[in-house]
Amino acid sequence: MTIKLSNKARAIKSSPTLVVFSKAKKMIAEGIDVINFGVGEPDFNTPEYIKKAAIKAINENFTKYTVSPGIPELRQAIVKKFKDDNNLDYSINNIMVNPGAKSTIATVLMAICDPKDEVIIPTPYWVSYPAQVDLADGTPVILETDETENFKVTPEKLEEKILELSNPKVLILTTPSNPSGMVYTKSELKGIADVCVKYNILVISDEIYEKLVYGDTKHYSIAQVSEDIKNLTIIVNGVSKAYAMTGWRLGYAAASEDIIQKSVKIQSHTASCVNSIAQKAAIAALTINDGSIDNMVKEFENRCKFLVDELNKINNVTCVKPDGAFYALPNISWYIENNKKGITNSVELCTFLLEKYHIAVVPGSAFGVENYLRFSYANSMENLQKGLKRFVKGLDELMMS
Ligand SMILES: Cc1ncc(COP(=O)(O)O)c(C=O)c1O
Repeated sequence: MTIKLSNKARAIKSSPTLVVFSKAKKMIAEGIDVINFGVGEPDFNTPEYIKKAAIKAINENFTKYTVSPGIPELRQAIVKKFKDDNNLDYSINNIMVNPGAKSTIATVLMAICDPKDEVIIPTPYWVSYPAQVDLADGTPVILETDETENFKVTPEKLEEKILELSNPKVLILTTPSNPSGMVYTKSELKGIADVCVKYNILVISDEIYEKLVYGDTKHYSIAQVSEDIKNLTIIVNGVSKAYAMTGWRLGYAAASEDIIQKSVKIQSHTASCVNSIAQKAAIAALTINDGSIDNMVKEFENRCKFLVDELNKINNVTCVKPDGAFYALPNISWYIENNKKGITNSVELCTFLLEKYHIAVVPGSAFGVENYLRFSYANSMENLQKGLKRFVKGLDELMMS
């Protein structure tokens, strides 16, 4: 008997990332020493004080359903976080807690998209955005940015795109960015905010990498620009990346009460609520600081400098210096155009590097940019050094006939 799956299920494309990584996993299981540059999570353990809060919650039997938007104590801690970190005023009615920022975005999209509503997604984008818009019955519209503009949306390009569309509704902005590591300045955000306010465009501002910024870089939220843009913005954040808590599954949003209320209604029929123990752990993450996060950020910064300097030393490779997150996005177009192995795109290049040089990197096509590879530096310095040597050898071999 054949089972007819839904059109939605059949339309979902499997990610090009998965193709390379299922192969990498298989090789690792076979005992091959693969260096994984594809990691999307900190290689640090969740800090002890956070784990203790979770253990306490279990011992106190805090193990039942909670209210759908998240326990008031956690939402209050999030309100305080927004005031302290971003100088933004919210009340707990503006906050909801979800099982990961991924789920936050999916839920919000369901709350704001009608069929044919267009959601503008600048390249290079996080892999899940287009699929999530599709699942919410919206229409993803890709807006290309340029390496020469540090992969950032300009107000001019945004306005031009909005004017081309019939139902522009939402812009998804990511700062710091996965995969480029770029961080928008306050004045860049002001330019974008002015356009969004002019055309009444909602902004999903994905700030999950907020805490991971380097040097003099400062993170700003577009909601800080003015009250008008704040009313149009849904800030998405969470504890996964900042506190090395990817497996705990806790993200959150701040937005106008009507968007939050409707999103919570959706969540009440899907996840119900976030794991009660993770909610207690997140309170500790947001309210206690034992210095472990600062140490993690310093380590990421050292690795970032090393990786990007080394990538830029390679002939015919250029890499824009990231200001945050834990990814670098080198331009490898020259090797795609000039190699002698018949490789024509970033997926084929990643497959070659994996099979012959045992390094797993993510093809740019996964992020809507074909001529790039994404390297994660959520990996030990030793592995970065070893992996880079293999990468250089791989590129050299590409040029041998
Ligand atoms: C840009 C971006 N947004 C959201 C997420 C999802 O985070 P979470 O683990 O909280 O679901 C990720 C995870 O890779 C990400 O890179």
